[in-house]
Amino acid sequence: MQRWILHVDMDAFFAAIEQRNHPEYKNKPLIVGADPKKGKGRGVVSTCSYEARKFGVHSAMSISEAYKRCPQGIYVPPNGGLYSKVSHDIFEIFYEFTDLVEPLSIDEAFLDVTGSIKLFGSALEIARSIKKRIKESLQLTASVGMASKKYLSKIASDLEKPDGLVVVEPDKIQEFLDSLDISRMWGAGKKTIEKLQKAGINTFGDLAKFPEQTLKLKYGKMGSHFYRLAHGIDDREVIPEHGVKSVSNERTFSEDVLDLDKINQTLFALSEKVAFRLRKKSLNGKTIHLKLRYKGFDTITRNKTIENFTSNTEEIFQIINKLFNNNYQSGRKVRLLGVGVSGFGSEIARQLSLFDKSTVQNEELDKLEDLVKKKFGKKSIQRAEGIKRKDVFNDFESD
Ligand code: TTP
Ligand code: MG
Repeated sequence: MQRWILHVDMDAFFAAIEQRNHPEYKNKPLIVGADPKKGKGRGVVSTCSYEARKFGVHSAMSISEAYKRCPQGIYVPPNGGLYSKVSHDIFEIFYEFTDLVEPLSIDEAFLDVTGSIKLFGSALEIARSIKKRIKESLQLTASVGMASKKYLSKIASDLEKPDGLVVVEPDKIQEFLDSLDISRMWGAGKKTIEKLQKAGINTFGDLAKFPEQTLKLKYGKMGSHFYRLAHGIDDREVIPEHGVKSVSNERTFSEDVLDLDKINQTLFALSEKVAFRLRKKSLNGKTIHLKLRYKGFDTITRNKTIENFTSNTEEIFQIINKLFNNNYQSGRKVRLLGVGVSGFGSEIARQLSLFDKSTVQNEELDKLEDLVKKKFGKKSIQRAEGIKRKDVFNDFESD
């Protein structure tokens, strides 16, 4: 069966949301980023509307440079909480069409729609339907690349932005690659591109002229990778983030417990364990669950849904602690405690929700920028802090 992968990427994402929410910004150069303070501001451009791009403004440019190029622009601070909510809605639309959704960042994902064709029509029809759903329900535009290989769909989605739809037919891959500018290589840094260009390689077609061995000799490990890209070889699967619905851990005490210190310590250790497992899976949840079983098997479960996505021990513990204090009938012996987290969103959504304030300070903005940048091209950020922590208990009944 012919495999079809869509890469969907929102157009001028943060800026488009601002323009949607503020009709007075429509069709105007709009820059989302740090405060430009008449050209002396510190910090960078997060993104800008296509109208602002005509002035040479782009993501990651210093905000003072953006102001020099486009003093008449409208400058707004980012509203991370809002963007992560919209991102969530977009991903919900993706999941209407397939479970095989691999998020790449806040506004883009790969979708393997091969198995959805029976239900929703051809891959092209699915691509069109997704664009239509996004436009109708969110008043935003997305660009879609459609191909039989992940990296080709990724490149294709960018070729006719905004509101683009580019299909690379499987029997026209080499034709497509032959004229494709080498700077389109996904994941390659500026230096790599320059190196290739210096060697006279300006298109994927130029690269395809070299035998694999030559490329290996010239570029080491990357040589084989270049060879594969130049010949349209890419069998990487779409890896869904989806699947796990909740992460939880519980502990049954060997003897029923009345000691509140011990209960507290256990709740903390359970929160830590769950948070660690979430981070290992690059998951972040919004709903925190407490399970409390008294002596004699009487069991209650309580949960609380918070604003932010989290995988933070302290944050989870604080909520669990409140849930416990609000629901525990003092004087009763406890047999089992459990902590769980569900309601998952993407890592980036969690990070952006940290900035869920109407005004964002410059420093925070820088952090936001860093986080978004770190995320690009990567599925998750590994956080060293959790990795070496050893398991606290051995007697968990795991989920
Ligand atoms: P992109 O998809 O790279 O950019 P975009 O959606 O604004 O524009 P395009 O139409 O070219 O896709 O990034 C998605 C969002 O991530 C973007 O709206 C803002 C944020 N972002 C940053 O904050 N800093 C950055 O350097 C980049 C590249 C993106
Ligand atoms: Mg985008």
